[in-house]
Order: sequence, then C-alpha cells, then structure tokens
Amino acid sequence: MTTTLSPLDRAKLAVAERASTLIASGMKVGLGTGSTATFLVRRLGERVRSEGLDIVCVPTSSATAALAREEGIRLASLDEAGWLDLTVDGADEFDPDFTLIKGAGGALLQEKIVATASNRMVVIVDVSKQVKALGAFPLPVEVLGFGMEATRALLEKVLETQDVDGRRIEPRRRDGKLFTTDEGNHILDLHLKRIGNALDLAQALNQIPGIVENGLFIGMCDTIILGNVDGTVETIMSSKDQTETGSSNRASSFRMAGAE
Ligand code: 5RP
Repeated sequence: MTTTLSPLDRAKLAVAERASTLIASGMKVGLGTGSTATFLVRRLGERVRSEGLDIVCVPTSSATAALAREEGIRLASLDEAGWLDLTVDGADEFDPDFTLIKGAGGALLQEKIVATASNRMVVIVDVSKQVKALGAFPLPVEVLGFGMEATRALLEKVLETQDVDGRRIEPRRRDGKLFTTDEGNHILDLHLKRIGNALDLAQALNQIPGIVENGLFIGMCDTIILGNVDGTVETIMSSKDQTETGSSNRASSFRMAGAE
C-alpha cells in the first residue's frame, strides 16, 4: 500500500510512525491537523485496533475529530482531558530555533491552545518545511468577522513597523467565499517573505483587538521529527529545552505554575 505514496507522502508516513512510538497506553494526546497529522491519526487508529492502545485524544479541528472518530480513537474535549502528556502536530515552516508557522489548514487557534496545554509539543514534518528564516510561507492570522476591515487597516500599520520583506495581506477564501474557521472566524494570510523577528511580530499582532491568534508558535515545540524523501527520519531535540530528566523546561515551568 505504501508503494503508491509520493516521496513526500512517504516522508509524512515515516514521521507519523516515528511519532507514534512516543505514545503509550494511559497517555492523553493532542492530535494536530493537516496531511501529516492525518498519517499519525491513522497509525494510532491501527494501534488501537491491533494492540488495544488505550489513549484519550484531544483533536485540534473538526476534521481531525471526524477522522479520529472513524478510526475508533477515544476523544475528549480539552476541558474533559485537562493537561495533556503530548501533542503531535504538523507545521508549515520551522526555523533553527524551532519557531513554527502553522495554520495552512486554518486550525491554528485550537492547535495553539492544545499545544500550550501539553507537556510536550512534537512536530512532524517533511524536509520541505525546514527553513533558515521564516516567512516564505504566508503567515495565517485568525481574525474576528466583526470589524474585519478595521482590523486589516490596523494590521497594515503594524506591519510597517516590522522587520519583514513583504506586507501583502490576503483574506483567505474557499469556494469563492471567505474561509471560516471552526470558531467562525476568518483568516488573513500575511505575505511577509521574510520574518526578521518572530517574537516582535507576534507581540505586535497580539496588540490588535480584532486578531484572535496568529500562526507563529514560539518556544512551544521541543522536538522535530523530520522526514526525508528517501524515507529516513531524524529526531531533532531542542537542546535549550532539555533538563537532566529529559523533560522540557516549558512543561516544568507550567507544572510549577500549577497548571497540571
Ligand atoms: C493546520 C496546520 C498544519 O499542521 C500545517 O498546515 C501542516 O499541514 P500539512 O501536514 O498538511 O503540511 O497548521 O492548521
């Protein structure tokens, strides 16, 4: 069956299989959205059926929820599940600092909430997502429908202050209509070409009231599972996130803050 896959899909399957080995019975797992996450959901479904893998999963979109249900995976809302052991998700770009652009599938808001409520975020990507500098991929920004033109005008002004190489803003459309997220919001795709300072940009975007969330994931991912088109897989850990016990500083600091 895998012989009919394209080289990129083979890479996606390989990273999904590697990520699946991090998941064991008893775990609470966040399930990402997108084509790479789809391979993981299918693999977990196989394991539920063949090994009786006993996990509770929180999906990050209605699409992932539907697929996971079809696969017979037990689902819970994030509020029912509470703190998660692990979230596995795809990405549109990642840079050497493990900063991500996410949201091509329009699920960035739930993805960010779920990843933030997890001890670890593991990202599964094919090699096409690896970049030296973020920004060639348009940055998705989720905005309220209310006052969207005012939000867009403010966004244009904010982008003038940012270290980027492009400033085109494009409302995302599907089937001739504005794309609507699972939360009933819309997406503006920012064609920035190069993002000089992701943290500055994310903070500036967060100051605009009509912006619900942006697709920059900063300091959230501790492990990248990278698939090459020859089928080989590399697991890259963020060295700055490692403690002696191997758990991430982000998780530890959340735990210390009583979030678990
Ligand atoms: C959806 C996402 C996806 O994780 C991202 O777009 C990667 O998708 P794919 O695995 O299909 O390339 O952020 O909102």
